[in-house]
Amino acid sequence: MSRKILVTSALPYANGAIHLGHLVEYIQTDIWVRFQKMQPQDKVAECWYVCADDTHGTPIMLRAEKDGITPEALIERVHGEHARDFAGFHVAFDNFYSTHSPETQECANVIYARLQQAGLIERRTIEQYYDPAKQMFLPDRFIKGECPKCGAHDQYGDNCESCGAAYTPNDLKNPYSAISGAKPELRHSDHYFFKLSDERCQSFLRRWTREPGRLQPEAANKMQEWLGAEGENKLTDWDISRDAPYFGFEIPDAPGKYFYVWLDAPIGYMGSFKNLCDRRGIDFDAYFTPDTAAELYHFIGKDILYFHALFWPAELEHAGYRTPSGIFAHGFLTVNGAKMSKSRGTFITAESYLQTGLNPEWLRYYYAAKLNSTMEDIDLNLEDFVARVNSDLVGKYVNIASRCAGFIGKRFGGRLAATEADWQKPLRDAAAGIAQAYEEREFGRALREIMALADAANVFVNDKKPWELAKQEGREAELHAACSQAIEAFRLLTLYLKPVLPKVAEAVEAFLGIAPLAWNDAATPLPAGHAINAYSHLMTRIDPKLVAALVEANKVSLAPVPEAAPQKHAEKQEKAAEVAKAAAEVGGVAGPHISIDDFMKIELKVARIVNAGHVEGAEKLIRLSLDIGEEKPRQVFAGIKSAYDPAQLIGRLTVMVANLAPRKMKFGLSEGMILAASDADGKTPGIFLLAPDAGACPGMRVK
Ligand code: MSP
Ligand code: ZN
Repeated sequence: MSRKILVTSALPYANGAIHLGHLVEYIQTDIWVRFQKMQPQDKVAECWYVCADDTHGTPIMLRAEKDGITPEALIERVHGEHARDFAGFHVAFDNFYSTHSPETQECANVIYARLQQAGLIERRTIEQYYDPAKQMFLPDRFIKGECPKCGAHDQYGDNCESCGAAYTPNDLKNPYSAISGAKPELRHSDHYFFKLSDERCQSFLRRWTREPGRLQPEAANKMQEWLGAEGENKLTDWDISRDAPYFGFEIPDAPGKYFYVWLDAPIGYMGSFKNLCDRRGIDFDAYFTPDTAAELYHFIGKDILYFHALFWPAELEHAGYRTPSGIFAHGFLTVNGAKMSKSRGTFITAESYLQTGLNPEWLRYYYAAKLNSTMEDIDLNLEDFVARVNSDLVGKYVNIASRCAGFIGKRFGGRLAATEADWQKPLRDAAAGIAQAYEEREFGRALREIMALADAANVFVNDKKPWELAKQEGREAELHAACSQAIEAFRLLTLYLKPVLPKVAEAVEAFLGIAPLAWNDAATPLPAGHAINAYSHLMTRIDPKLVAALVEANKVSLAPVPEAAPQKHAEKQEKAAEVAKAAAEVGGVAGPHISIDDFMKIELKVARIVNAGHVEGAEKLIRLSLDIGEEKPRQVFAGIKSAYDPAQLIGRLTVMVANLAPRKMKFGLSEGMILAASDADGKTPGIFLLAPDAGACPGMRVK
């Protein structure tokens, strides 16, 4: 039976920037999903990849307050930044949504109601520290005081950084609120608990965590430790409510009580998928009924295993939903062998990496080369990063095409001779083994195999020496054959690398003049006589100076900004300036230039104006309906009324910015922008709409 697969990555908190640590997970998941999407229909019918921002909780509420904005405004801004960063690294979610959504709220309410019906929710009075100045209950991490064991000052409410002792906030001596500094008071409050200690939950989890495929072996062992031996019943009930003021969903029938952020966060997976289903006509229930054959996988970091391997399956099971098919935990990123550090400049944001002009596919390749299916930490060694990418991608892979493609164009009119040869057999036969490695998340193994095949192709090219054949008379046929065979080998390597290097693969597809490569295409060589296009260089080497600039930029800019402090606009500007300066010094992206990646963030598309009309009450605007190959045309308001009559616009093609954030206007939503030229000095008055040459179709990308 053909597989239906739903895949998630953990939902990043909506109060911080995406950094290279996060990217381990999003790149890992994206590679796996892209691999699945390359499979033939009869193997994988559907594979959906959803994510969202994790938007609720006290830290986000306080952070917004500090920034002087509403939490809604904060999470909207961060959502834009996160979406930009993920797109920059080619992480291609089918939906990147928000937990602060009607779908997530609805799912949370359903799950809560069903757990209540099952008798698994209990209300209890607890004692908790309260900040009388701030007038709110304090989460443990917002209470500080003296360690009850060693007396160290300014320790957090859960453990001492000085002597390592673990305790509860009530044990702290001279506690104070980290928010206001006030002395907290113990107060009573009613909280809601999910009864994990219930025998039904314990026995279910004991069974579930041992089922094959659900958890990695090391994770399963950890869970057995947490669960304890049969009859030991180590799990305690889970406090799932928080008191107002809190940014989150109010619990139905419990005014002033909110779902704890970790209750609705995983439900955000469902909410995001629900939203996608509604937009795309996918059957949500088919994925979430208890006996479904559809698969559900969560990629997460090892730090949040407890939530995903215990709380989440227990909730789903007892609310009458399916449980995850598998939970794939990865280890933590270290940089140069140590924890990411702001003072060393190794706490590197995704944004700064791209701004410095580093190619995102370099990092995708390096991470993939280091990733396997275990929870081991992975190290980004910056020197090794440069050496590995330069030697594997440029020295081995790209080198094959760059040494052979030119001759096909110059000497043979761009047409290939027969491309198949015996020496390629191992390359073609490797498809199944490489597929298995991807499937098992053994990306390092997959890339080792692929690079060994690239070595073999290079041995062939080195033996044939096309550059020498080209100088000898009467050896045209040999030259043609050698280069054609090498190009076919290059096509195979590209196919195998495509999940990791999607943009390079796209460029190769254009160069070879072929349809997007799918996994089964390994079996079908390029035919003799096939025409290829001119070769242009696919990837440059990493200049180590760029990496140095990156570290420098993150050092300078981040050092004075404490971890939880709001990143104000001015600081961000300063940081951007520092990055540009550091890069400029080493000849990277400087002043007025932007990188190609910056440019590629703008999604320019050919649009057909299917309708145009006047807007009542607007002097300058014309309302346009633009077909860009999507289900529904986009509505755009364009300030071109002075130069164009709506009737004359209908039917013509133009270019639009398709990924501009939609803007609510007095007259309705504007979902993009069309491109027109005008003279800033006004010497040549008028507005001149852009139009593509004849033959362009709505939806084509302009780049
Ligand atoms: N919001 C929660 C997840 C909720 S999922 C229902 C959260 N957010 S996070 O922003 O802190 O982390 C998002 C993901 O990135 C987590 O899976 C986390 O493990 C991962 N990583 C964050 N820092 C990381 C490294 N330094 N290295 C590798 N992964 C890291 O947790
Ligand atoms: Zn101590």
